[in-house]
Amino acid sequence: MKAKIAILPGDGVGPEIVAEAVKVLDAVARRFGHDFEMTEHPVGGAAYDLCGDCLPDTTLAACQAADAVLLGAVGGPKWDALPPEKRPERRALLGLRAKLGLFANLRPAKVWDALTGASPLKDGIVARGIDLLIVRELTGGAYFGEKRRAADGKSAYDMMPYSEREILRVARVAFEAARARGEGHAAARPPKVTSVDKANVLETSRLWRETVTALHASEYADVELEHMYVDNAAMQLVRDPSRFDVILTENMFGDILSDEGSQITGSIGMLPSASLGDARGGLYEPIHGSAPDIAGKGIANPLATILSAALMLRHSFGLSAEADTIERAVADVLAAGIRTQDIVQGNDHAVVSTSEMGDAVSGAAETFAARPAPHSALSNLAVGLDFGEARTELRPGCK
Ligand SMILES: NC(=O)c1ccc[n+]([C@@H]2O[C@H](COP(=O)([O-])OP(=O)(O)OC[C@H]3O[C@@H](n4cnc5c(N)ncnc54)[C@H](O)[C@@H]3O)[C@@H](O)[C@H]2O)c1
Repeated sequence: MKAKIAILPGDGVGPEIVAEAVKVLDAVARRFGHDFEMTEHPVGGAAYDLCGDCLPDTTLAACQAADAVLLGAVGGPKWDALPPEKRPERRALLGLRAKLGLFANLRPAKVWDALTGASPLKDGIVARGIDLLIVRELTGGAYFGEKRRAADGKSAYDMMPYSEREILRVARVAFEAARARGEGHAAARPPKVTSVDKANVLETSRLWRETVTALHASEYADVELEHMYVDNAAMQLVRDPSRFDVILTENMFGDILSDEGSQITGSIGMLPSASLGDARGGLYEPIHGSAPDIAGKGIANPLATILSAALMLRHSFGLSAEADTIERAVADVLAAGIRTQDIVQGNDHAVVSTSEMGDAVSGAAETFAARPAPHSALSNLAVGLDFGEARTELRPGCK
């Protein structure tokens, strides 16, 4: 397969962790005979310094022309004083989501077998298993609704609009993901979607619940559906996360629950994400930020970015075996006791640098005998792609 991947390293640890994901993608390409054309483009504060814009037109055009985008992270103290609309987080992150039409954010959260001690939850809760997927609506609700502050500055509102169309398209992503995860779990657990809302108070939530219920009845009766109020969901996530499979929710609830969901696994450097839309491609990034406190030290954990690359292979390119290979390589490297400093527990581990971790995973991905990952965190939601001519090239710069 030939595919074009836009590589956006960004700021802080971004370039360090993205370099390791590129290394792993190269290893997978060699092993499976694929041709990934990877071109690097500036974004975030680094792009502001280079071009005076955190999302240069050339970078946006490259992302729109690519089959998928791999992003490191953006932002840092150097650019905190910029006007809000020019800052890396708003201009680059929200700009990319809006311009690429990415309406569904998928965040798998699972505790890796070798890292069970990293969860802040009690052993008995972790032992029941944590392997869930949060599907968050990404371009609607209060974050994108009309906002107003009164002239005297003493009152304000944010509208929280949702349309049936917006609910349907993200709900479909959740049901499809649950179905595919059900196949991966091989009858050990029937697929389930928990739709989270606040239908006892909010009209948008009542529309959400009606729409999800109708879609379930007409197209996804094989998937179990439950509805849950958001306050209860926040509680259940720490009380018994094993009860969840796929959580579907709107933008603001998803923002909050996905951070909670990620933290119960205990390691921010381990968690990938995928943002998908109707069009081809998707954007893949670790859930963490640019970690300016450790940037340049060669100690950042690249696994969240490497696992984001696995999600890209599965979701944007339909390459499940290749994605499984990366996830299996990560599991094997962790089982061998290889750790970056953020996930060390006890004294019996080999503490490695960012690039040594990338070497270990790419080496494992290229050499071990192919077999499925123990439980793939995500499903196959491949979108139809039109792959063009391919070559491997790194091309930093504004132009
Ligand atoms: N998607 C994004 O690009 C994104 C997301 C969140 C924050 N940010 C930006 O990143 C900057 C820093 O934000 P923050 O400090 O609040 O959050 P952060 O996620 O960058 O860092 C939080 C803590 O986690 C650690 N950490 C993060 N990633 C790690 C990794 N891969 N390996 C080891 N440790 C890691 C950091 O060292 C830090 O102690 C800010 O400018 C913020 O706006 C960007």
